[in-house]
Amino acid sequence: MALLYSSSSFFFLLVALCSWHLPFAFAQSNCKAWLVQSIPTDMPDLHLVPGVLSTADVLQWLAGNATKSLDLTVQYWELLAEPNNSKSGDYGYSEADMKKFGADSGRQVYQSLVEAADRNVGIRIIQHSGLYPDFVEEASDLAAGRPNVKNITLLLSNWWGTGIVHCKVWISDNKDIYIGSANNDWKSLTQVKELGIYLVGCSKIAQSLRDYLDNLFTLSTLNSMDYTRTIFDSQWQASRKVPCWSNFIPKEEQCRSPLPPARDVPHVNGYPIIDDPATFDVSIETPGVGASTASSDLSYLSFAPPELLFGKFQSDEQGWIETIKSVKVGGTLRISTMDWLGQSQFANPIIFWDSLAAAISEVVFAKNATVHLLTANWTHSPDSTDKYLKNLLYTNVLCSSSKYNHCGGKIEIRYYIIPGYDKTGPAIINGTATGNLYPGYTRVNHGKYAVSDVRAHIGTSNLIWDYFYSTAGVSFGTYKPSIVTQVQQVFDADWNSPYTQSVQPLSAQS
Ligand SMILES: *[C@@H]1O[C@H](CO)[C@@H](O)[C@H](O)[C@H]1NC(C)=O
Ligand SMILES: *[C@@H]1O[C@H](CO)[C@@H](O)[C@H](O)[C@H]1NC(C)=O
Ligand SMILES: *[C@@H]1O[C@H](CO)[C@@H](O)[C@H](O)[C@H]1NC(C)=O
Ligand SMILES: *[C@@H]1O[C@H](CO)[C@@H](O)[C@H](O)[C@H]1NC(C)=O
Ligand SMILES: *[C@@H]1O[C@H](CO)[C@@H](O)[C@H](O)[C@H]1NC(C)=O
Ligand SMILES: *[C@@H]1O[C@H](CO)[C@@H](O)[C@H](O)[C@H]1NC(C)=O
Repeated sequence: MALLYSSSSFFFLLVALCSWHLPFAFAQSNCKAWLVQSIPTDMPDLHLVPGVLSTADVLQWLAGNATKSLDLTVQYWELLAEPNNSKSGDYGYSEADMKKFGADSGRQVYQSLVEAADRNVGIRIIQHSGLYPDFVEEASDLAAGRPNVKNITLLLSNWWGTGIVHCKVWISDNKDIYIGSANNDWKSLTQVKELGIYLVGCSKIAQSLRDYLDNLFTLSTLNSMDYTRTIFDSQWQASRKVPCWSNFIPKEEQCRSPLPPARDVPHVNGYPIIDDPATFDVSIETPGVGASTASSDLSYLSFAPPELLFGKFQSDEQGWIETIKSVKVGGTLRISTMDWLGQSQFANPIIFWDSLAAAISEVVFAKNATVHLLTANWTHSPDSTDKYLKNLLYTNVLCSSSKYNHCGGKIEIRYYIIPGYDKTGPAIINGTATGNLYPGYTRVNHGKYAVSDVRAHIGTSNLIWDYFYSTAGVSFGTYKPSIVTQVQQVFDADWNSPYTQSVQPLSAQS
């Protein structure tokens, strides 16, 4: 702990230094960014965008380069494949199958964590309770007998009624970062399509991420019963449990937030939009994109749920909405997501949520925007997906529904269908061969990002109410043109691949 404390005061100094305008040469060697992807095996017809790194490499480098500290947020652990465990979705596949699926990558990432732990790197893990069959065993094994490894389980449902730690963040030595959709799961490296960003030497951004992780850590040390209330939330018309400092509670009834430095905002229904959210005026180099010149373009972080906001950071929902609204008149907006629902998935009662859909319809109507939305279609897509997508597609009908509407905008929606998605699960169940071709929970587009003509937003939240209001999520966004262009290219490679299928509009005539 002493080590962490002294290094954080060092970084405070560094952050203070970095906020001055530094000489160009110094700034240039400071912060670098690469896009990071995982591409499932057996997708030969997917065009590969040059200069994009692989998730398996980047996670190993983050652990491999760590000398002092490694901070991880983890939803669940399955870096080590388990073809011999009858309770696992990997069960029954041969050694040769597992090799072909790429399971070695997961073992290598785990090994890099073990080596960092053995080098006495201070590892702090903030995790959800994990998933069947092994829950948090991989983290517990790392922590066993190593005082330099802290494994903390935080149950957000104690604070918000539902919700989990869902952000996937790695921070190495307070300066190198991964933010993206990839879980600490071997399948997220070679069987699930993922998108993230690798930031190297970006201590200012890392420090803000650490502040957020500190907030999660603080929650884990408090008794939620002393700090939560069940209230009627007038924004979402539902009774629900929230932390007592929530802005969903009338101002005079709020408690003082135990999370310094909390932002003091006047109460409105729902969380106020921040007019001038915090941005990083950091000069970023992008060596993965042709000529790598550092230029000073604004970047930002956004966070969920809103009660964990600090400083002037925007909520994750605002980060998404403002990316949608950043599209230029006549421009193109691209959105890639695993899930799309205009409601909650886990909250009770069900909450209707049209925040993102409304923003999309607004830019189609008023800005003649072309919107391309790519959504996963796989074994575990939520039931109502197709209906909510058709509802959004109906924007096209409404936009030109009168002779006075001169609609120049358009939305097109495609399903992303990864071959083999309908043949996933253990190879053997109860001694009988299943005929499955891939392990369980594979063959899906799991990335969550949006990109307009000017701004790219790379997130960890699924596009469902719960992820913005009761689940821990983090996004990185930027106006840097080289990143914006490369995110567009990654999207277009998927969109134009043979692995998509148009979502059909409602057939009703009038
Ligand atoms: C450190 O990171 C760089 C890329 O940022 C990578 O090339 C190098 O292999 C990493 N070192 C280790 C020991 O992982
Ligand atoms: C599974 O069992 C086989 C046979 O006992 C063994 O060779 C193999 O190493 C095991 N695989 C894993 C991942 O434990
Ligand atoms: C952390 O790891 C230790 C050592 O393996 C284990 O005893 C403990 O239960 C783990 N804690 C959590 C919260 O998982
Ligand atoms: C998946 O796509 C098919 C059409 O290809 C559609 O009928 C089905 O409803 C989709 N599944 C979900 C859950 O939306
Ligand atoms: C959008 O396109 C329509 C039809 O082409 C045109 O009449 C309208 O002026 C355009 N609106 C804007 C804001 O450019
Ligand atoms: C496997 O067998 C057990 C006991 O016979 C049964 O309870 C279980 O439902 C079976 N599992 C599946 C997936 O068929």
